[in-house]
Amino acid sequence: MTPLSDGLPFLFVRYMRLFWGFAGARILVIVGLTLVMTYAEGIGIAFFFPLFETNAQAATSGPGATIKSVLDALHVPNTAAGVLPIIVAMFLAKGILQYVTFRTQFSLLRHVTRKMRRRALSAVSHADYQHVANASAGFYTNLVINEVNRAAAGFSYYVRSLSPLLSASTLFLMVSFLDWRLSFVCVVMGAVMIALTRVTGFMIRRQSLVVSRESSSLTSLLIQMLHAFKYLRSTAAYDRYEDRVWRTSDRVLDADFKASIANALLVSLAQPVMVAFLGAILYYRAVVQEQELASLFIVLLYFFRVMNEVFALQSSWQTFCGYLGSLETLRESTEATELAAEQHGSERFEKLDDAVVFDHVDFTYKTGRPVLENINLRIPAHTTVAFVGGSGAGKTTLVDLATGTLRATGGKVLLDGHDIATLDLTTLRGRIGYVPQDAVLFDDTVAANISLWSDSYTQEQLRDAAQRARCLEFIERMPNGFDTQIGDRGVKLSGGQRQRLAIARELLRSPEILVLDEATSALDSESEVAIQQSIEQLKGQMTILIIAHRLSTIRGADRVYVLADGKIVEDGGFDELAAKPGGVFRRMCELQDVAH
Ligand SMILES: Nc1ncnc2c1ncn2[C@@H]1O[C@H](COP(=O)(O)OP(=O)(O)O)[C@@H](O)[C@H]1O
Ligand SMILES: [Mg+2]
Repeated sequence: MTPLSDGLPFLFVRYMRLFWGFAGARILVIVGLTLVMTYAEGIGIAFFFPLFETNAQAATSGPGATIKSVLDALHVPNTAAGVLPIIVAMFLAKGILQYVTFRTQFSLLRHVTRKMRRRALSAVSHADYQHVANASAGFYTNLVINEVNRAAAGFSYYVRSLSPLLSASTLFLMVSFLDWRLSFVCVVMGAVMIALTRVTGFMIRRQSLVVSRESSSLTSLLIQMLHAFKYLRSTAAYDRYEDRVWRTSDRVLDADFKASIANALLVSLAQPVMVAFLGAILYYRAVVQEQELASLFIVLLYFFRVMNEVFALQSSWQTFCGYLGSLETLRESTEATELAAEQHGSERFEKLDDAVVFDHVDFTYKTGRPVLENINLRIPAHTTVAFVGGSGAGKTTLVDLATGTLRATGGKVLLDGHDIATLDLTTLRGRIGYVPQDAVLFDDTVAANISLWSDSYTQEQLRDAAQRARCLEFIERMPNGFDTQIGDRGVKLSGGQRQRLAIARELLRSPEILVLDEATSALDSESEVAIQQSIEQLKGQMTILIIAHRLSTIRGADRVYVLADGKIVEDGGFDELAAKPGGVFRRMCELQDVAH
């Protein structure tokens, strides 16, 4: 059921359930405070009666008499000197309560925002890799920042409508108590207001869904624009891209504009409606019934207060409706992301003693055709194996299966005989070193990028890892050495320098299983040979999976697997494959001029 078509009571209950989950009984505290506050104000107003009603007739019946009996019971003289302090005290109490209420509201808002953000962020953090990879970065950025902010604002307006709702009802009860006929007028006017709200509310809710959807696209476009800035700039494609950004931005603004217009319509209609009712009452009471204006004035003061609260209710409810789109997006996306949580087993992974085994493994991405078919292989612990093959052959997918990033859609991946599905993947990943195709670097110092914010390494260890990854020299030439900031994704470094830093990080961790996915593709031959030597020194200490296009880099591998179209077409030792007449690998060697 979409919230668009549902009426106020339905929405009220639906969101009360949701917000109760986030805020709990603290909502009640606010409601209670508001009630007490309204009573203080109502009573404050009531004590104006004795000041206006001076003649004896008024004091024997009607509201004045009620107040008088209260004053008598309290032994307070029915005079200005007796009553004014009570009025001031009541409004002072109201003021203090109002402050406390606001404070409670704001602290609750902070609490709810934090909870919503935590929940959304933790859904993303625990989600399956494929689920997150299929959405754009902008989608989640928008979800965790903007939608959470807007949903929290929605919550705050929901709570803010509770107060006027209660105040209006309380004041209404007081009006009915003082002058029951007037309460009828209140009801009629309330009904007119609600009818108006329904029409504009629908428009606002519809636009809010558009705002939500388009802001997500806008964030997405902006993130991509900044990532591709250099390319877009240097190919003059920037203007065309910028056009797309503007168009999306305009759609957000248009939807916002339409919602604001609907709101303005309502606000502008509200006062004339109220004044018309007020005029009618005044005319009837003063001219037709010839009532004393003073007593009428007090009653009208209440009427005015009730209507003010109705306006406040209407206005916060409308604003709340404007955030419905975000509330729904946040709820749906968070739930969908939570459903896609990565499944972990419970067995801890300590180290690899025997082998990584692929047993009839098939794999298909959620959005595509089969990528790997019937893969059978055994990688003995502490050996070095290489995967080669054309781009798109499935090499990256294969190593992702070995590290548990992807889950086989058929067959099993076994580590020391344990199905990877039964392992606690966090313990496994703590022992995996991974240098991906595009080096992953963060906007921080060189040292932080190598240690990844872990303080369990000494400066010496950092230098040693840097030395082995052949980056010590260029780091020392940088203005602040290891403390140099390298910029977002390492923009201040060359491609080869980025790769070497990424390798240094994994060498520092000395993992159990090391995955190098075209990790040296951006290096000059000299650095590549040097790093190759460093990696060869690791041979036998850990299990190493290398994907490489440049075949010279996998010379030292114990075994080479050749992949084509998702299948292993050849495997064996480097020299053995390179010598095999008519072999795929031999042909690859010939093309690259790798002697055997
Ligand atoms: N996230 C993904 N969703 C859908 N298809 C994908 C995804 N990643 C890769 N593929 C597809 O899987 C195939 C193998 O990709 P990959 O393992 O990256 O190849 P390689 O590393 O050998 O170049 C390619 O056809 C690619 O289009
Ligand atoms: Mg790849």
